[in-house]
Amino acid sequence: MRNLFDETSIKGMHLANRLVRSATWEGMCAEDGRPTDKLAAYYESLAAGGVGLVISGYGYVRSDGKQLPGQLGVHRDEFIPDLRKLADAVHRQGGKFCVQLVHCGGQTTEKMSGAQPVAPSSVKVEQYPELPAELDNNGIKELTGCFARSAARAREAGCDAVQFHAAHGYLINQFLSPLTNRRDDSYGGNIDGRHRFLMEVYRAVRHEVGADYPVMVKINGCDNLQGGLALEDAVFACRQLDEEGIDAIEVSGGTPASGFETPVRQGIETRINEAYNLPLAYRIKNAVSCPVMVVGGLRSYELVEGIIRREEADYVAFARPLIREPTLPLRWAQGNEVHSRCISCNGCFKPGLKEGGIYCVVEKIERESRNASL
Ligand SMILES: Cc1cc2nc3c(=O)[nH]c(=O)nc-3n(C[C@H](O)[C@H](O)[C@H](O)COP(=O)(O)O)c2cc1C
Repeated sequence: MRNLFDETSIKGMHLANRLVRSATWEGMCAEDGRPTDKLAAYYESLAAGGVGLVISGYGYVRSDGKQLPGQLGVHRDEFIPDLRKLADAVHRQGGKFCVQLVHCGGQTTEKMSGAQPVAPSSVKVEQYPELPAELDNNGIKELTGCFARSAARAREAGCDAVQFHAAHGYLINQFLSPLTNRRDDSYGGNIDGRHRFLMEVYRAVRHEVGADYPVMVKINGCDNLQGGLALEDAVFACRQLDEEGIDAIEVSGGTPASGFETPVRQGIETRINEAYNLPLAYRIKNAVSCPVMVVGGLRSYELVEGIIRREEADYVAFARPLIREPTLPLRWAQGNEVHSRCISCNGCFKPGLKEGGIYCVVEKIERESRNASL
């Protein structure tokens, strides 16, 4: 029977358990995207906490693909030694390290990207803070090359895998979504056209890193948005990736414009609100042969253990619970099965924006009040 703490491997990447740190922007890089020692130390603490695979925060593949301050840049060769420090930090603690690659497309501002944001179509939708410019075919080709070269940098730096970000309303998701992709050329129309960019990114990355290197994707099973990507179209895209050799699919859902059903839902107070992307992940798992990871609102040990035991997903991924408690995997492995201490308040975003790095604001308040009462 499958167990949360099984040792597994993905394309030769040996993993100590089935727990994954899902990509989480940390806001700890230099202004130009260069990885810092602070970020390396943070990844080391995550790996020391027992999570088998650490996926980096979203790393932009070209400077205009940036969205937030302190975001990781994977767009420059000169960052390779700094990326290597991140991988080394995780390896020192016995973990594996994957870099997430993104272009934010229209879901950014000119101030952050340094130019008018680009998107599949120049449309004004709630998801976009500004009106983006439509990419032409040369622009699309250039971008697939940027994903590929960034993946090559990660490999050269000793990172164990790459994951390209096709979820949460960013550029690849924008191509998949009928709401943001209104093109009438071969990149638009039905899902056959709308998933073309996704496949070209995958093929370009695969061509660059070779057949023996783990390439994964994070994708929305559904955008939870009127007119956005629907489940059966996502299943179609996942099947195509699977057939062409993707090594794992992480399933999420929603965009920042999806109301309550964003990727980072709040108010996960009861079991019924947990694992909010599991139905999507389970549907995709039943359609593909590669491993499937589920992320979103996983909080209790019994639920997470059951997902693995019942083979509803192959890996369970966490973002906020590991901000609150990097040692959660170790704690569970040692038999303390108390629920994650994360209350899903999303307070962790604020210090990332204002103080040069994310942390759990609730944990800080509790620690300070404990210290005050001593
Ligand atoms: C501070 C913060 C930053 C995030 N940054 C990313 C990111 O860089 N890439 C990504 O795919 N998802 C990102 N997410 C979303 C998480 O990976 C995850 O999908 C979501 O938080 C739900 O999982 P959770 O309930 O375990 O937090 C971020 C979430 C948080 C809270």
